[in-house]
Amino acid sequence: MVENLIEIKNLVVEYNTNKGILGKKETIHAVNGVSLDIKRGEILAIAGESGCGKSTLARAIIKLEDAKSGEIDFEGKNILTMDKKELKNFRTKAQMIFQNPYASLNPKMKIIDTLREPLKINTSYTNDEIDKIIFEKAEKTGLTREALYKYPHEFSGGQRQRIAIARALVLNPEFILADEPVSALDVSIQAQIINLLKDLKESFNLTFLLITHDMSVIKYLADRVAIMYLGEIVEIGKTDEIFNTPKHPYTKALLSSVPQLTGKKEEIILQGDLPSPANLPQGCKFHTRCQYCMDICKSTPADNKKITDSHSVNCHLYDKISD
Ligand SMILES: Nc1ncnc2c1ncn2[C@@H]1O[C@H](COP(=O)(O)OP(=O)(O)O)[C@@H](O)[C@H]1O
Ligand SMILES: [Mg+2]
Repeated sequence: MVENLIEIKNLVVEYNTNKGILGKKETIHAVNGVSLDIKRGEILAIAGESGCGKSTLARAIIKLEDAKSGEIDFEGKNILTMDKKELKNFRTKAQMIFQNPYASLNPKMKIIDTLREPLKINTSYTNDEIDKIIFEKAEKTGLTREALYKYPHEFSGGQRQRIAIARALVLNPEFILADEPVSALDVSIQAQIINLLKDLKESFNLTFLLITHDMSVIKYLADRVAIMYLGEIVEIGKTDEIFNTPKHPYTKALLSSVPQLTGKKEEIILQGDLPSPANLPQGCKFHTRCQYCMDICKSTPADNKKITDSHSVNCHLYDKISD
């Protein structure tokens, strides 16, 4: 039996701002009807260019952002309608790792106090029990005992990200949301952190939502990949399916920038910029940048077309474009 840890149905998240032209109110349509399942024990990656709604989706999943409509079921229970007690319990099971570990660590607290905090707030363990858990998690994330008695500024970026990862683990979560976890790190350090995430996933039987624009990280880590464009999932499939038989012109363009991963040489340069999510295109949202655009694409959103049991795409032309 395949068990979904998370089932997202038709999720919509918007921001209302006064930052439009001449300070006019505008609505940013950051997430537009996302439906997505995350299976227990898998690493599902979300890819797409900056501004397409990846972080908003992640933040909505752990209720750092309010959804306008839709449903997010965690172990079968909708987190959007949970009461306080249920939400507190959910927040111990779902943890987030951010892009910039320095911004997410309190500069005035010793590492050990930063790691103790979630355990003090959420459990009734004794101080000794808390420290035992911390030492175990620190060891698993490659931090020494001495390191725990230092302050964040005494560490390099990679070490800080290990600390942020240790903090995400102290409550024994089931689900980790990692939002660009290596993008802010030196390239030489990225591989270490990626390998650490892979090891931790195995050791603690974790389920991951991994957000990254780096297709090589996805190829190495992810079981499945969802491609996001202007707040929608335009293609989803197993990592092999997305890399070997991409169907959406946007997916093909993303992959063409990493020929070493696909073996395909021709780079597809997208026309124009990402349209503003305050002013979404009609029809297929990708049509303004699609070299294959037909009349139907300008007027009618593309439904979800099934390619295999695990692979689907939203595109009117998916079977008409040659690879
Ligand atoms: N707090 C916010 N207020 C207003 N607009 C926001 C806010 N956060 C994100 N946005 C906008 O929502 C859209 C999606 O952003 P985001 O989810 O951060 O994308 P990504 O993580 O894919 O780069 C962007 O247009 C961004 O400018
Ligand atoms: Mg982001």
